[in-house]
Amino acid sequence: MNRTPVRRRRLSVAAALGTLVAALALPVGLLGASAQAGENVPGQAGQNARAQAGQNARAQAGGLRDYAAAAGVHIGTALSEGRLGETAYANTAANEFNAITAENSMKWESLEPTRGSYQWAGGDRVVQFAQDNGAIVRGHTLVWHSQTPPWLTPGAFSNAELRTIVQNHVQTVAGRYAGDVYAWDVVNEPFNEDGTRRNSIFQQQLGDGYIADALRWARAADPNAALYINDYNIEGINAKSNAMYNLARDLLAQGVPLDGIGMQAHLIAGQVPSDFQANIQRFVDLGLDVAITELDIRMQLPATADKLQAQAADYTRVMNACLNVDGCIGVTVWGVTDKYSWVPDVFSGYGAALPIDENYAFKPAYYAVQRTLGGPGNPTNPPTDPPVGNGCAVRYTVSNQWNTGFTTSVTVTNTGSQALSNWTLTWTFPSGQRITQAWNGTATQNGANVTFTPASWASTLPAGGTANFGFNGSHTGTNTAPTQFALNGVACTTA
Ligand code: G3I
Repeated sequence: MNRTPVRRRRLSVAAALGTLVAALALPVGLLGASAQAGENVPGQAGQNARAQAGQNARAQAGGLRDYAAAAGVHIGTALSEGRLGETAYANTAANEFNAITAENSMKWESLEPTRGSYQWAGGDRVVQFAQDNGAIVRGHTLVWHSQTPPWLTPGAFSNAELRTIVQNHVQTVAGRYAGDVYAWDVVNEPFNEDGTRRNSIFQQQLGDGYIADALRWARAADPNAALYINDYNIEGINAKSNAMYNLARDLLAQGVPLDGIGMQAHLIAGQVPSDFQANIQRFVDLGLDVAITELDIRMQLPATADKLQAQAADYTRVMNACLNVDGCIGVTVWGVTDKYSWVPDVFSGYGAALPIDENYAFKPAYYAVQRTLGGPGNPTNPPTDPPVGNGCAVRYTVSNQWNTGFTTSVTVTNTGSQALSNWTLTWTFPSGQRITQAWNGTATQNGANVTFTPASWASTLPAGGTANFGFNGSHTGTNTAPTQFALNGVACTTA
């Protein structure tokens, strides 16, 4: 099969937006991560040719992928190669997405159902489809407690034997797809909800070090793939994401080859974490890339027009949380169509979780995603902007300032049509400000990023309502006021 070398590079979203025309011509293989110096990169001419071939193979332009390329990110889907015989499935996957993740066929049970006998056909088909259509491949996944082959059971092998087996697996698979896979989910779902390590066969028999080992083995087998740890319920700041953060920081400090964190984002409508963006930012501040790897937003069935609109607003929130952070390199939705989504099989009564419905029709969520990427949105039913139930205006007033200090008053108005409970306001300081003391709530600061949480008595912000808070801080230089605020992840206007 064709081996397509993949160059990894962190793309500045802002820079890409500034060079729209050039970005539209970017080969998808250029999208993505890596700050590593000195890596071998393939010739750009070859990549352009491959991408051009991919573009030519597509039935039509104007898919999500075109807007994503212009925005400097990738937009991906999970793909089941067994569905590719369905024309609508294959065409939709090709037209809309420029990143492909094998939904199941690169998992251990699929690749090595019998010990020592690798079955590559499914994974190869996914790679071929991606290459035929100028899409990058996210490899999923090398070391995961689930979907392991039946012969790989706890206690069947000594610890030393298991270590060798895992090493062989990682190196065989990463080696096989070296040059084809842009990023690997090297380790998937290593944590419990409380932040302790999941008691997988790997954790039990190999101990804490299995994650570092797996990353090193993967790097040895494929020096150019970006190496990720991937997990769910790490989208907001919580015990599990804190554990991931601490692990990532420690691995980097030890020189372990870790390039990114995958946030799966299997979400429930109405429950997108308000600190999603701040959470992404703190991982990026460690020097890592972040990808949203398995996005779906499920709702209780039946889907109604109102629920679909609310879901669209949630998709907007997730997309913006990524797009607002340079270093969040792309978003993958977990399936081409609701028709084959895993959700109804696992969450009884829930579904309709993807942007494209079971008849391949574009849902409000599709247009919401398109719009966040700079597209027009739905021309016949334009979304309200900001999404219904949200919207805000912020007035940021420096009331006092001296050589290294300042006092600020912030007034935030909920201009949406729904009351917000448990609201937070986030922003990024442009010139080295640090909050020393806040009132009417709590400000947590991570690098330049601030999340303000109001005191409990102010935690509800009615539609049209206003809240005021303030803080003292220190600054270096100009004390330039921040201009981009977000209320529960939705961008505010400033006055
Ligand atoms: O292939 C067999 C088929 O031969 C058999 O007839 C059928 C009967 O149930 O099962 C088929 O296997 C199913 C497989 O998907 C392929 O369709 C399994 O039952 C089913 O459990 C499996 O589900 C997958 C699930 O991972 C397994 O954990 C889903 O498709 C897949 O979307 C899901 O993906 C995971 C990510 O890898 C990791 N993050 C969570 C995400 C959702 O669970």
